[in-house]
Amino acid sequence: MAEPKNYITSLDLKSHSKAGDLWISIQGKVYDVSDWAKDHPGGALPFLPKSHEPRRHRPFVAYHPVIAWQYLDKFFNGFYLKDYSVSRRPKIT
Ligand code: HEM
Repeated sequence: MAEPKNYITSLDLKSHSKAGDLWISIQGKVYDVSDWAKDHPGGALPFLPKSHEPRRHRPFVAYHPVIAWQYLDKFFNGFYLKDYSVSRRPKIT
């Protein structure tokens, strides 16, 4: 049977939102980029100060080539975001 997932809330995520203690979430998974943010090819700025917001996965998807996804696993810290949900599709008329 699959292991139960470890969930944290957005509030927990927010408590790790400064240089040296920096978690971000992309599509419901939580990544610890504390030590790596300064080496990010896009600079440390995109992570601060709002990188804890769940919606930040949008810039990730928009700014990165497909190859960037393979680096994510390295930073996965085992947590999932409890209140993550896929936003509703806009109604296009
Ligand atoms: C663990 C999470 C992340 C990883 C592993 C990652 C990885 C990368 C990599 C590999 C590149 C270079 C892409 C290339 O050579 O074309 C890059 C560029 C960039 N990243 Fe990230 N990134 C992460 C999170 C983010 C987030 C949250 C943002 C938020 C906005 C962001 C914004 C950017 C920007 C603006 C660039 C520069 C794009 C360009 O110059 O074309 N990244 N990132």
